[in-house]
Amino acid sequence: MSTDHQELVLRSLTAALQSKKLYPPGHPSVAAPARKAFQVLTPAIKETPKLTIGMVEEALVYNETPVAEAEENYIDIIEQMKHKDLEAMTFEKGTTEKEVVDFLNILALESAPSDIQKELSTKGISHITVKTVVKNKSILEVYNEAVDTIKNVMGELRLGKIPKSDAVNHVVDDLTDKILTDSNAMVGLTMIKNYDDYLYNHSVNVGILSLSLAKHMQLGEEDLHTVGVASILHDVGKTGVSEDIIKKPGSLSSEEWEKVKEHPVLGSKITKRMDNLNDTVCRVILEHHVRYDKSGYPPVEEDIHPLSIIVSVADAYDALTTLRVYQKPYQPIEAIKILKGLAGKHFDAKTIEAFESMIGVYPLGTLLRLSTNEVGVVTKTNPDAHDRPEIKILFAPDGEKVEDPQILDLATPDASGTLVIGSVDPMARNMDMGEFYTNEAIAAEEAEAKK
Ligand SMILES: [Fe+2]
Ligand SMILES: [Fe+2]
Repeated sequence: MSTDHQELVLRSLTAALQSKKLYPPGHPSVAAPARKAFQVLTPAIKETPKLTIGMVEEALVYNETPVAEAEENYIDIIEQMKHKDLEAMTFEKGTTEKEVVDFLNILALESAPSDIQKELSTKGISHITVKTVVKNKSILEVYNEAVDTIKNVMGELRLGKIPKSDAVNHVVDDLTDKILTDSNAMVGLTMIKNYDDYLYNHSVNVGILSLSLAKHMQLGEEDLHTVGVASILHDVGKTGVSEDIIKKPGSLSSEEWEKVKEHPVLGSKITKRMDNLNDTVCRVILEHHVRYDKSGYPPVEEDIHPLSIIVSVADAYDALTTLRVYQKPYQPIEAIKILKGLAGKHFDAKTIEAFESMIGVYPLGTLLRLSTNEVGVVTKTNPDAHDRPEIKILFAPDGEKVEDPQILDLATPDASGTLVIGSVDPMARNMDMGEFYTNEAIAAEEAEAKK
């Protein structure tokens, strides 16, 4: 392999990417450099049946050889690869001009599709493949990214813009991933309640709870994605209601209340205008305050969609467990009782049953007093024996905080003599459950890093 090819190829790709920054697609000044790149690539591929340009620890690599002075000469390639989380792009023998042109178009996109390889296949590009960096994001990173994403979406809407759906789709994929692998830790984070910016954390919490419920109900991949997107966006319509009303500390006048009640319709109108969102997402958003018995708002003719019921149950649970001006937060155990009391009226009984079985008799976020008079927090629910969860003992029998809290799995034979006596109000123990689960997630992350 000659370095001549290397320089020619990298230079021509850089020129093609630069031209895309300067000119709109279709402009002759864009087409020529892309064609040139193809012409240079062809002999280079011939020489090495496969040509791979990659990134290894921040360094640009051409067919496994690090490229000297890459930052100075080929910064556009580096930037686009980093931006698209690409570890490598490979050109194989038989690559056509159209493939190179289409590939460069995708590579130069400002907001990349969440799955570039899939995008290549959709475009019929079969001789160019990409490898994406596998980033193992922590659950906290995913949670915070989700909060930032919904914050940005709502921010753009308040400015009168229609946001792109890429970031939302991306974040829903990440959340789903974590819920499939570490659902306990993720549900624990829904105890994070932000009273100043209630709407963002609430949206993410409803997203997590809806996805967990959908997973528990064994819904397929497509439904999971739809319910994830719909739940995280369920309250976007509130951006169309004045912030004075949304954040009003006191109770609302009937006129103000009528305004708030418009948010499902406004929300579905917004999502209809967003790209790449399916009709069910808009429908779920429209229906998230319609009750099972058709009371609620707005009035609808049809039976509500099963995914709408999932979101409405998750929405109600998060609202009940959150401190509001007009409501002290209910303990998770109490919230479940309230929801069960509404089964068959506000929510269908089957979804409530599934929710209870997902969240457990003693849900995450619950402090329990044991027969030993110790007090501990639920760290893992036990689907096989709901009344025997795993807990972390935080308070000794004398009420003193334990220095080095230990896990006690009530399902193990060792703990068979220990009974759960009842729940304890975290506020009475000065405990912030959101903070507790955040610290647990940080500790788990640190332990993982040490491995
Ligand atoms: Fe709502
Ligand atoms: Fe909501």
